[in-house]
Amino acid sequence: MDKKEKVTPLKIIYSKKTGKKISALTAYDFTFAQILDESGIDIILVGDSLGNVMLGYKNTIPVTNEEMVMHVKAVSRAVNRALIVADMPFGSFQNSSEAAVSNAVKLIKAGAEAVKLEGAEYIKTIKEIIKAGIPVMGHLGFVPQSVNALGYKVQGKEKQDANKIVNDAQALEKAGCFAIVLEMIPHDLAKIISKKIKIPTIGIGAGANCDGQIFVTYDMLGLYGNPPKFVKKYEDFNAKAKAAVKKYIEDINS
Ligand code: KIV
Repeated sequence: MDKKEKVTPLKIIYSKKTGKKISALTAYDFTFAQILDESGIDIILVGDSLGNVMLGYKNTIPVTNEEMVMHVKAVSRAVNRALIVADMPFGSFQNSSEAAVSNAVKLIKAGAEAVKLEGAEYIKTIKEIIKAGIPVMGHLGFVPQSVNALGYKVQGKEKQDANKIVNDAQALEKAGCFAIVLEMIPHDLAKIISKKIKIPTIGIGAGANCDGQIFVTYDMLGLYGNPPKFVKKYEDFNAKAKAAVKKYIEDINS
């Protein structure tokens, strides 16, 4: 993908044809979004992981559409090139397709260019959102909004579960999704899915054979205290920030 040209869902799909890997990270505020965009990231996800890392909730379930809208607005003010994808939070798409389209529209009006929706249980809703002109990214495997039902563990280890994830990926592709996040599934399964579907897979804890990768930025920069085991830490900014604040306090005291 051209480093200057605006990234669009069509270009993300095209990346798979050319073999260019897709880079994605999360951002929830102006400053981080600017850093990611200026660094050349392809996709910025305003993830509902903001519930954990920004708002201190124990999981993503309490996050509301209103909270998402506020963070999407901040991110969109900073971004010129990356594709901005916003998570549809728990409760924003389950009630009815009409409510889901209305909530997706709010995210798009706030500055998102696509939405991400967990699971393959709401195919009709996904089609309605796409019909409204809103690109949709899917999300399969471990889907954090269903942590109470699934438990926090790798999905698709058993043959039957693995087959379901493959079928779900094909159903999301058929429904018109432009990409699918695969979270915490066996690496071989991610490889099989990535070969079977024509739209790109974006992995998180799903091995190197996906068409792209995503991390929560606070995890890969070592800012968040409780990252998942599979995260590769590129920095330890938590320790660095604490050292800087301690130095500041010392300066004041002296
Ligand atoms: O909310 C989020 O940050 C996500 C990623 C973990 C894919 O959904």
